Amino acid sequence: MPILKLPGLIDPHVHLREPGAPHKETWDTGTAAALAGGFTCVLDMPNNTPPVVDATALSAKDRVAREHARCDYGFHLGANEENAADTAALAPYTVGLKMYLDQTFGPLKMEGLGALIAHARAWHPDHPLLCHAEGRTIAAAILAAHLAGRAIHICHVSRKDEIELIRAAKEQGIRVTCEVTPHHLFLTDADIPAIGPGRAEVRPRLATAADRDALRANLTIVDCFATDHAPHTLPEKDSENPPPGFPGLETALPLYLALVDAGLLTLNGLIERVVTNPRRIFGLPEQTETWVEVDTAAVWQVHGADLFTRARWSPFEGWTMRGGVTRVVLNGKDAFRDGTIVAAPGSGRNVRKSINEMSLRGAS
Ligand code: NCD
Ligand code: ZN
Repeated sequence: MPILKLPGLIDPHVHLREPGAPHKETWDTGTAAALAGGFTCVLDMPNNTPPVVDATALSAKDRVAREHARCDYGFHLGANEENAADTAALAPYTVGLKMYLDQTFGPLKMEGLGALIAHARAWHPDHPLLCHAEGRTIAAAILAAHLAGRAIHICHVSRKDEIELIRAAKEQGIRVTCEVTPHHLFLTDADIPAIGPGRAEVRPRLATAADRDALRANLTIVDCFATDHAPHTLPEKDSENPPPGFPGLETALPLYLALVDAGLLTLNGLIERVVTNPRRIFGLPEQTETWVEVDTAAVWQVHGADLFTRARWSPFEGWTMRGGVTRVVLNGKDAFRDGTIVAAPGSGRNVRKSINEMSLRGAS
């Protein structure tokens, strides 16, 4: 059995849904999915119900994650039209400030240019600022950050024009980084009928083959891979009003390895995009005594019902994958072994200070 040993993977963009929507995913099931996929650290997005835009919501998420996470984790804080003056105080407890500048799932979309500029100025210059932006909005976000003298990270870039704009900005020395998802690297709008129209809803939308090819041709510009693991239940996806989003934690690594097999990326280039660059961009601690073992010859078929995610479906249903995670060691202990989650809920660690620990200390 040819075993490939990798450092623990980091996913800088997941939606674990708790608090607010535990029927879609919980910290328990979502971090089990992460470990099964080879991820030992996940950074969770703020579009919960209620959204994580203040200390109260952050401390509620911190409490549930601390009790239930099976792998290491961090929290992105959400920007809204009102909180620009208040976010900096929460920076020590978060891994980044997320701005939703285009429409997606959740209530956090900011309409105004003013709010974008205010957050770019107010958020701590050394803490990551990231955004969901598409098309022309990407140009606005890059310029607002540049004028504020700071870096910005563009989430889930999906189109040719966008990656080429980011390339041009980087070539000018502008401080912009970006991530792409496995689904935008492997699926296109031609796959929508086979996936089904509701299930195929995702933001950014599945794009054209030319867009996918442009992402693949510009991997040198792509700093990170991110799953954007965004679980919704099948009844929700198959409903009249399907919410956008795909589960992705358990199918990502074999797809990333397929890019290496196809000669689009070296193995070191993959490790940069799933470990080294996310760690640098989001200022994450090194995970010691932490690694992943992958049987590179293992061939398996994706069946949603077999996955650890509570969503139990995949846009890659029926795909044949090569590469199976056989073992994950996290912080010196087995966390996943031969198909079984070993790490206990609550064994994961917050990569930042816990806001609750701080207020407990402050109160004593
Ligand atoms: C995400 C979700 O469901 O939370 N959906 C999605 O289509 N990607 C929100 C997001 O990341 O835009
Ligand atoms: Zn997302």
